[in-house]
Amino acid sequence: MTATPHLTMADLVPLLFGHAAFQQLNAACELRLPELLHERPGSTREEIAKELELPERSAAVLLLGTTSLRLTVKQGDGYANAFVVEAAFDDGTWTHLRDIVEFQARIAYAPAAEYTASLRAGENLGLRHFPGRTRDLYSRLAGTPGLEELFYKGMNSWSRISNPVLIDGVDYGGVRRILDIGGGGGLNAIALVTAHPHLRVTVLDRPGALEVAEHNIREAGLTDRIDTHAADIFDDEYPPGYDCVLFAHQLVIWSAAQNRALLAKALRAVDPTGRVLIFNAFSDDDGAGPLYTALDGVYFTTLPFESSTIYPWRAYEGWLDECGYAAHRRITIGGWTPHGVVEAYPTAATPSD
Ligand SMILES: C[S@@+](CC[C@H](N)C(=O)[O-])C[C@H]1O[C@@H](n2cnc3c(N)ncnc32)[C@H](O)[C@@H]1O
Repeated sequence: MTATPHLTMADLVPLLFGHAAFQQLNAACELRLPELLHERPGSTREEIAKELELPERSAAVLLLGTTSLRLTVKQGDGYANAFVVEAAFDDGTWTHLRDIVEFQARIAYAPAAEYTASLRAGENLGLRHFPGRTRDLYSRLAGTPGLEELFYKGMNSWSRISNPVLIDGVDYGGVRRILDIGGGGGLNAIALVTAHPHLRVTVLDRPGALEVAEHNIREAGLTDRIDTHAADIFDDEYPPGYDCVLFAHQLVIWSAAQNRALLAKALRAVDPTGRVLIFNAFSDDDGAGPLYTALDGVYFTTLPFESSTIYPWRAYEGWLDECGYAAHRRITIGGWTPHGVVEAYPTAATPSD
């Protein structure tokens, strides 16, 4: 086992200035600095100031920030993007990373200041930043013009960055029809049927989310393979006839009792020879990490719902056992986010048998 190094005083710098580090990243994104350096690597500070229409002093402060944070590199008098930023332009993920930064800035950032109060109260007090009287974020989205679109743009990009384990890590050979519970803007459904042409998916969600999903499905030209079903995931029965029920970024929102109820409902709905997939980020079973999960915990504590939690793997496995699933297994493919899939089977014969 590798010993964790002790915290040093220098390690405190990114903690003390965590908010400032994020604002450097956010300003770079809002001002489109990475796009400029992608087009014109080697631009000088003066050229960057002119192109971004910034006073020279502002450009100097921003470039000091981005270079210290290693988002940009300085070569002589010129600046270039970090290698990973350029790689994200090359593989098409840069716009998704930028959407995620916007999600953090416009949805998560201000409510995060309610973290201590939320911990004390055991409630998601960041919700007070969004008008409405309901107790979860999703049902409040419609109360602010444009918020639904902003939320699903960010959510779709989170899913796009983290879903390779769902799209490529699961064997869909024996699957025909997937019911995507709380499928939101439909990004996972679109990715699934695009990668696996034999699949059909139904996105089940609230009517407001389905408006976004239907738009995205039409834009993708996939109306013949993806349909939608408006329902409440707790109050309404799930439609029958599916050999796979998917919970994507869903069982991190609710309490243990609610997750058990949803998994029990999925077990009643899915074909007996089918399977249930749980896809989201996980925390380690030993409660010591990873860092991504630990920091994302601030969002989950302050916003989605009073009991939102990135649970450890073993919590899901325990609920599946209590619900009467016959077997389950973990699927991971590595990567920089702690996402994975728990695949659960109603009957003992698993697809790998
Ligand atoms: C975190 S988002 C996940 C979206 C999508 N599955 C993904 O991975 O990108 C949670 C989704 O659950 C939906 N949801 C929350 N509560 C719901 C309820 N009671 N009934 C139906 N959908 C609900 C929200 O509208 C939202 O689209």
